[in-house]
Amino acid sequence: MTTYLITGANRGLGWAMVQQLARAGDTVFAGCRSPQNAADLQALAVENSNIYPIQLDVTDESSVMAAAKAVAAEIDKIDVLINNAAIKIDDKELQDISADKIHDTMNVNVVGPLLMAKHFVGLLKQSDSGRLVNISGRLASLLLLEDQKWGSYSYNGSKAAMNVATRMMAHELKPAGICVVAVHPGWMQTDMGGASADLEPSVSAEQVLALIANLTLADTNKFLVYNGTEHPW
Ligand SMILES: NC(=O)c1ccc[n+]([C@@H]2O[C@H](COP(=O)([O-])OP(=O)(O)OC[C@H]3O[C@@H](n4cnc5c(N)ncnc54)[C@H](OP(=O)(O)O)[C@@H]3O)[C@@H](O)[C@H]2O)c1
Repeated sequence: MTTYLITGANRGLGWAMVQQLARAGDTVFAGCRSPQNAADLQALAVENSNIYPIQLDVTDESSVMAAAKAVAAEIDKIDVLINNAAIKIDDKELQDISADKIHDTMNVNVVGPLLMAKHFVGLLKQSDSGRLVNISGRLASLLLLEDQKWGSYSYNGSKAAMNVATRMMAHELKPAGICVVAVHPGWMQTDMGGASADLEPSVSAEQVLALIANLTLADTNKFLVYNGTEHPW
C-alpha cells in the first residue's frame, strides 16, 4: 500500500483523488485549510481508517511544519506528495492586475509547494519510491505561449514559476532517489475550471493517479499530461 499526502484535498481534483485512494485502501493524509468545515472529507475518514484529514494552509509555514510533525507521529515515510492546492484569480488584462492578487497567487501556487517540499522531503526520503508531484497546467507552458489566450497573468506566471521549481527540485532530489514531476491534469469541471470544462475531476483523478503509480526515477524532471504523454515546458 502506498502513502500519499495531498494538499487541497477537500474539493476539486484533490477531493476526487482522495475518494479513489480511499477505495483502493491506500493511506492518505488529506490536507485542507479548514478540516472542521470539510464535512464530506470527515465523513470519508469516519468510514475509512486509511484517510487522515489534516489542517494545512500551504502558505503558512507554521501550519506546514505542524502538519509534517503530525504526519511523522503517525507514520515513518510518505511515498507520494501531491502539491495540488492552488488558486486562480481573473487578471486577464493588464488593467486587471494588482500587486495583492499577484502576491496571493504566488504565495499559494509557488511558495506553498516549496514549503511543502522543504518540510516533507525528509519523509519522502524514507520511501524507496519517493515521488513529488506538482500539479501544474498547460497555461504554465512557455512553448505554448503563442496560444496563451486563456488564463491570467498571476496564475499562468505562478504555474510557470512552479515548473521552474519542479526542475530545480528534480535535480536536487534525484541523488536521494526522489522522482519530481509537473503534471497537467486537463481542463476539469471544478470551481477553478468551471462547468464547461472538458473533464469530470474523477476522470482526471483516475488517470493522474495511474500515472503517479507508474512513475520511476527515469521520469524525473518531466512535465506530463494526465494521460501520460509528455507536455512541452
Ligand atoms: N480546474 C482546471 O481546469 C485545472 C486545469 C489545469 C490545472 N489545474 C490545477 O489542478 C489543481 C487542482 O485544481 P482544482 O480545479 O481542483 O481547484 P479548486 O477546485 O479550485 O480547488 C482548489 C483547492 O486548493 C485549496 N487551497 C487554496 N488555497 C489553499 C491554501 N492556502 N492552503 C491549502 N489549500 C488551499 C482549496 O481549499 P479551500 O476549499 O480551503 O479554498 C481547494 O481544496 C490546481 O493546482 C490547479 O492549478 C486545474
